[in-house]
Amino acid sequence: GEALRVGIAGLGTVGASVVRVLSEKAGELTRQCGRDITVAAVSARDKTRDRGITLGGIDWYDDPVALAKKAEIDVFVELIGGEDGIARACVKAALEAGRHVVTANKALLAAHGVSLAEAAEKRGVLLNYEAAVAGGIPVIKTMREAMAGNTISRVFGILNGTCNYILTRMEEEGISFADCLADAQRLGYAEADPTFDIEGHDTAHKLAILTSLAFGTRIAAGDIYMEGISNITQADIRAAGELGYRIKLLGVAQRTESGIEQRVHPTMVPTASVIAQVHGVTNAVAIETDILGELLMSGPGAGGNATASAVIGDIADIAKSRPGFQHGPVFGRPARELASYKRAR
Ligand code: NDP
Ligand code: HSE
Repeated sequence: GEALRVGIAGLGTVGASVVRVLSEKAGELTRQCGRDITVAAVSARDKTRDRGITLGGIDWYDDPVALAKKAEIDVFVELIGGEDGIARACVKAALEAGRHVVTANKALLAAHGVSLAEAAEKRGVLLNYEAAVAGGIPVIKTMREAMAGNTISRVFGILNGTCNYILTRMEEEGISFADCLADAQRLGYAEADPTFDIEGHDTAHKLAILTSLAFGTRIAAGDIYMEGISNITQADIRAAGELGYRIKLLGVAQRTESGIEQRVHPTMVPTASVIAQVHGVTNAVAIETDILGELLMSGPGAGGNATASAVIGDIADIAKSRPGFQHGPVFGRPARELASYKRAR
C-alpha cells in the first residue's frame, strides 16, 4: 500500500524518541502494517538544537499550526504539551483539515477532549491517545476495545511515573524529595512544569480520561478531589513502613450510590499488596468489572521510549485501518526463518 505520511509537532523527550524509533524500526513496522510509515514533516521551537536524531529530508515547520494545515500528511502527532495555547490550536487545525490525530497530551484531553472528539467525528478521522494515560501500558485500547460489554465498577492505580519514582527512592534510598524530583526531570519523566506531577494534576487528568472510558461520563477533571505528594516527608514514609504500609499516589474512580466518585491522593497501601510492589517509574492500572473480574496491568509509565511505544502503536493502528487489513498470522514467515533472531538490547 501507499506510505502513511506522518507530521510530528514537538521533538522533546517523547517526540525525539518517536522519530528515532520510527526510523530504527521502519522494517518491522512495514512488515506489521503492510505499508511504510514515513515522517514527512516536523515542528519544534529551536531548529539548531541537537536532538540526537536525523532530520534530513524531513520538512521543518516553525509553526505547528502551519504543519497541521499545510503539510502533505495523513496523521498529525501532537507531542508539545499544555492544555491550551499552541497544542490545542494545532490539534484543532489538524482535525478540521481532516487529518487523523495522535496525541500524548492528557492535559489537553482532560480540558477539551469532548470538543476535540466531536471535531474528529465530524470529519470522520481518528483521535488516538494511548500514550496520554500510564505511558507505555496499553490501557486505552484495553478499555475501549477489549472490554466491550463489561460493566466497570472501579478503576484505580498509580498513574504518575514521576511521583512513584520519587516515593520509591525516598523510601528505598533515603534521598530527599527535591533530589528525586530533579532526577525525574533529568530522566524526562516529569512534565514541563513538574507542579503538575507532584500536586496531582497529571494523575487527575489521566483519571478523568479513564473515568470517561469506564463509565461513559463526560470528561470533567474539575470534579476530581485532588491532593498531591509535595507534603510527604521521610518521616511519613517511615511511619507508614513501621505500620506495614507504603505510601502511593493513587487515582481512584468508582461507582457509588451517589454517583461516580473520583479522587487523587496519597494512600497507605499494605506492603504485601500488589500495588505496593509497583516501584519507580512503573505505573499500574486495576480495573474491576462484572464479566472479566479484576484486571491489573503494570509497566513503564513515563520516559521517551515507553511513551514512544504507545504513540507508535496509535500511528500503526491508523496505518492498518483500511478495509480487509489482516494482521500477522496471514502473512507471517515460517518460524524456522527466525531461528537466528537476536534480542534487541
Ligand atoms: P518536552 O518538553 O520534552 O518537549 C516539548 C516539545 O515541544 C519540544 O520539542 C519543544 O520545542 C516543542 N514546543 C514547545 N512549544 C512549541 C511551539 N510553540 N512550537 C513548536 N514546538 C514547540 O515534552 P515531552 O516530550 O516530555 O512531552 C510531550 C507531551 O507528551 C506532553 O503532552 C506530555 O504531557 C506528554 N507525555 C510525556 C511523557 C514523558 O514521559 N515525558 C509521557 C506521556 C505523555 P524545543 O525542543 O525546540 O524547545
Ligand atoms: N509526567 C508524567 C509522569 C509523564 O511522570 O507520569 C507520563 O504521562
